[in-house]
Amino acid sequence: MTNPRKIIIDTDPGQDDAVAILLALASPEELEVLGLSVVAGNVPIAMTSRNARVVCELAGRPDLAVYEGATRPLLRAPVTAEHVHGRTGLDGAEVDEPVMPVVPQHSVDFLIETLRREPSGTVTICTLGPQTNLAMALQRAPDIAPRIREVVMMGGGLFEGGNITPAAEFNIYVDPHASKLVFSSGIPIVVLPLDVTHQLLTTKARMDRIGAIGSRVSEVVTGWLQFFERFDVEKYGSDGGPLHDPSVIAYLLKPELFSGRVCNIEIETASELTMGMTVVDWWRVTGRQANATFLRTVDADGFFELLTERLARL
Ligand code: BDR
Ligand code: CA
Repeated sequence: MTNPRKIIIDTDPGQDDAVAILLALASPEELEVLGLSVVAGNVPIAMTSRNARVVCELAGRPDLAVYEGATRPLLRAPVTAEHVHGRTGLDGAEVDEPVMPVVPQHSVDFLIETLRREPSGTVTICTLGPQTNLAMALQRAPDIAPRIREVVMMGGGLFEGGNITPAAEFNIYVDPHASKLVFSSGIPIVVLPLDVTHQLLTTKARMDRIGAIGSRVSEVVTGWLQFFERFDVEKYGSDGGPLHDPSVIAYLLKPELFSGRVCNIEIETASELTMGMTVVDWWRVTGRQANATFLRTVDADGFFELLTERLARL
C-alpha cells in the first residue's frame, strides 16, 4: 500500500466546501490532511473559520489544525455569497457551536512553513475558495512554488460561462489577482470548473441515497445540501443543484472519473465587464504555453457513488 497523499485544504465553507472536507476526512487511506486553511469568501472569515471547525467536529476530528488566513482579497473589495449559502454559510442544519480552537498562526505562515518542511514535491494544495492565501504565500516566499506537488482547485468555467457574473465563476471573481498569480507561478494546476461541477447535480435520487445512510453526518449533509441547492434549482430549473467543491477531493481519490485537456489559462483582471474570467485556450489557438489541466467531463454517477460510500464511513 502506498502512503496517503499529503494535502492542505484551503477553503471558505460553504456547504459544498463542508462536504469536500468530509469526503477528505473519510478517506485517510488515500489522503492525509495536514491542516485546513480558511479564507474569506462565501461568508466573512469569522464564519468560514467557525464552519471549518463545525465540520471537523462533525467528522470526529477536533484534533485537526485549522488556521485563519486572509480576511479580504488582495486588491478588490470583499464579495460574499450569503444569498446562496445563507447567513452562516452553513445554513440548513442545526449544529453545535464548535469548541476546538483555531491554531494561533496565520494560514500564510502555515503554508510557507509546511511547504518548506515537507519533502519537496509531496504536498498538494486544494483550493476550494478564493486563492488569496496561496497567492500571499507565493508573494512572500517564492521558493515554495517548485516545492508544491500540485494545486487542485475548484474555480472558473469555459463552456458554462460564469455563475456570479456572465463571465466569471465566484472563486476567481472574488480574488482574480490572486488567481492570476497562481496561474503564472509554474506550479502544476488541475482545474475543476463549472463545466464539471454543473454535471454533479444533487438529484433527489442521489440525495435519498445519502439520506439512507441514516447517520448524524448524513442527516446534517442532507440538510445543508437541500438548503444549498434551492438557489441553483430556481436558477437552472434542474433536479438538484451543482455540488462544486467535493469534485476536487473526488479527483484526488479517483482521477479516472474525470477527463480534460492540458492548455493555457489566463485570468482577466483588467476589464470590469469580464473581471475574473478564466480565458481557457481549449482549442489551442494562441500558442501560449500550457499552464494547467482543465477538466471538462465527469462520471457523475461514479462521483456520487464514491461520495455516498465515503460519507457512510464517518
Ligand atoms: C464556488 O463558489 C462557492 O460558492 C462554492 O463554495 C464553490 O467553491 C462555486 O462557484
Ligand atoms: Ca468554496
